[in-house]
Amino acid sequence: MSEVREERPTTHRGVRDTIESPVNSLQAQRGWMPARILDGTKIAAEIRAEVTAQAKALALSGVRPGLAVVLVGHNPASEVYVRGKVKSSEEVGLYSEQHTPAESATTEELLALVEGLNRRDEIDGILVQLPLPAHVDSKKILLAVDPAKDVDGFHPMNVGYLSTQRPGLVPCTPAGVMEILRRSQIPIAGQEAVVVGRSDIVGKPVAMLLLNQNATVTVCHSKTRDLPEVCRRADILVAAIGRAGMVTSDYVKPGATVIDVGINRITDQKEFDRFFRGDKKREETFLAKGSTLVGDVHPEVAEVAGAITPVPGGVGPLTIAMLMANTVKAAMLRRGTAVAELSRR
Ligand code: GUN
Repeated sequence: MSEVREERPTTHRGVRDTIESPVNSLQAQRGWMPARILDGTKIAAEIRAEVTAQAKALALSGVRPGLAVVLVGHNPASEVYVRGKVKSSEEVGLYSEQHTPAESATTEELLALVEGLNRRDEIDGILVQLPLPAHVDSKKILLAVDPAKDVDGFHPMNVGYLSTQRPGLVPCTPAGVMEILRRSQIPIAGQEAVVVGRSDIVGKPVAMLLLNQNATVTVCHSKTRDLPEVCRRADILVAAIGRAGMVTSDYVKPGATVIDVGINRITDQKEFDRFFRGDKKREETFLAKGSTLVGDVHPEVAEVAGAITPVPGGVGPLTIAMLMANTVKAAMLRRGTAVAELSRR
């Protein structure tokens, strides 16, 4: 690849510079094409439409898939997420109900609630919103959920099914990441995939899903040596760390696909300037609302990546869409109905 010397325009960081780098070389080859934006809002709407059609088909045989959501206490972020889950259930034609035990609920009380939901035939999916209060034994609660109704895919039996490539329920956010890649025709087999973050909810299952589709997968974490260098190997880079804008352009191979799972709310002007200075649209929102969202990926990465998920409007909307898909899938699996193409993933 030949070196080129480029006069870069002023970026949203207000940086005007003249740099010689492979990045600029690629940008020159791409004719200054910005990264392709992978529109999660659009993909989630497609999935919801498919789930709505599946729910209608099930209704013809007298089945209305039912989702029970358990929200303990008053975590404001969890309340927002759960409202979204219940609203979406209604929109796609699922039955849903919410259980809201007090913050003081004990492990035993929550076990009794979950066991009651396990026994009810009209409930196909059970979701216990995390995090649970510190005094509750979360692992015990997740283990109590009937694996056939575990629409979060957190039960060890579903984790085992995923790692041994058996049909089961797959965690929603990782499943959503795979839908973004598939529906955007991003190749996976044979590609180098790097996942930053090793949580049970996102990092580990997304790594397993990528491996199951024949990517060469590296999982990074807080003890990984020379993280930027490892990340630069990635054809597909998944950031699921929970730290605002940590992945900067020096972590990214030019042309790579970058999937940003982070959703971090920033309220501080200095932080805002670090990410969005000069971005008029963001400034307007920030001034009006006093906050804005940034992912784990710095917005400057859009200048290097080949394709990238935005925040908001990237992976976020897929989490709820895949919960809807998992609830229909659970309803089908529990009744021995053939699982449609979408739900098998
Ligand atoms: N808290 C944050 N993400 C999730 C999720 O995917 N499922 C549940 N149950 N709780 C969460």
